[in-house]
Amino acid sequence: MTMFLTKANILHRLPQVCFPASFGKAHSSRLVLGIETSCDETGAAVLDETGQILGESLHSQKEVHLRTGGIIPTVAQQLHRENIERVVHEALQRSNVDADQLSAVATTVKPGLALSLGIGLEFSQRFVRKHNKPFIPIHHMEAHALTVRMLQPVAFPFLVLLVSGGHSLLAVARGVDDFLLLGHTLDEAPGDTLDKVARRLSLIKHPQCSTLSGGQAIELLAKDGDRTRFRFRTPMGQTHNCCFSFAGLRNQVTMAIMKKEAEEGIRQGSLLSCVNDIAAATQHTIASHLAKRTHRAILFCKANSLLPERNPTLVLSGGVASNQYIRKALSIVTEMTGLHLLCPPAKFCTDNGVMIAWNGVERLREGKGILPPDVDVFYEPKAPLGADITAEVEAAAIRLPSVRMKILN
Ligand code: KG4
Ligand code: ZN
Repeated sequence: MTMFLTKANILHRLPQVCFPASFGKAHSSRLVLGIETSCDETGAAVLDETGQILGESLHSQKEVHLRTGGIIPTVAQQLHRENIERVVHEALQRSNVDADQLSAVATTVKPGLALSLGIGLEFSQRFVRKHNKPFIPIHHMEAHALTVRMLQPVAFPFLVLLVSGGHSLLAVARGVDDFLLLGHTLDEAPGDTLDKVARRLSLIKHPQCSTLSGGQAIELLAKDGDRTRFRFRTPMGQTHNCCFSFAGLRNQVTMAIMKKEAEEGIRQGSLLSCVNDIAAATQHTIASHLAKRTHRAILFCKANSLLPERNPTLVLSGGVASNQYIRKALSIVTEMTGLHLLCPPAKFCTDNGVMIAWNGVERLREGKGILPPDVDVFYEPKAPLGADITAEVEAAAIRLPSVRMKILN
């Protein structure tokens, strides 16, 4: 259908032309401030109702946690405390928006690290009370799932695979606050596994990796590695559900590293000569595991008509989704099954304030979960996403056809 510029929509666009965001005062659209502190990023952003980012600010704690060998919750809390005010102030200033012009404040309240969530929530509740603004509590994984809709029109329902440092889940997104949970991790998340393997390999000492997260370091080194030099078993081969497990794989990798250290006569803490090959084999096994569980989820959705016949879509997001090799593995499965694969750009896959503000916009548009400023809200470190149908998925026991995972770097 061709879109003609009618008088009505020219008029509708006029205020934006006359008063661009940089002039601040006149906004035709409602504005939402989003605040994220669930893990190790202090993020804030102001979005208008169309999803335009007016201004944002992000403080990452990654380098600090890299030095201490993992996230120490009290350190994360202190860093959020030191940065939250500045980050929110910067986001508002860059947007040229006064707090009084906001229509609502949206903040991550679950799931995440208790001490980190607490800082964002406490700050937000003080802020909304001071400025008398509605408050929208946000589920961090719901925000990851919906981010794609800020970037392009993706209609509900769609399948979503969320993979990060704290999560691994497959769900059908049926609406802004309506999810069916098909599978989740039984132990650790793939980003956590990658971070731990990177630490065990002392990749911080590698000249190319000193400032990279574990996942980024493994992806970079794997490019020059031969994955066939180590054979790790893909997890849960005999369990025909859509859940994930990564702890056993980490154990396999640790055993292989110990064997190599003994062979090369080096101690834990020194760099092995075969880090590239271990990185490649670890990344491949994680990619295969994610692809297989997602393949089964697609077949389950098809068998139960959970996705539309026209343009069925898989959305891949979360920090680990910025990995190009993993994206390729997923694209093999989506091509085989006729789904579209959509991944937000890396900057929107990792944690930020924009995704929280966007979730706020989606909820504001639908009038869902908007609270008056004086209501007390509590954070929840653990919070499942949507209605859990993992038992139904397991009962269906769908067998997968064999798929050749030939992925080129
Ligand atoms: O979504 P995110 O920023 O924070 C959480 O909610 O966890 O994800 C961070 C995780 C880290 O574990 C990091 O190692 C991983 O995402 N990650 C990657 C890549 N970039 C970040 N994993 C694999 N490949 C990457 N390129
Ligand atoms: Zn996240």
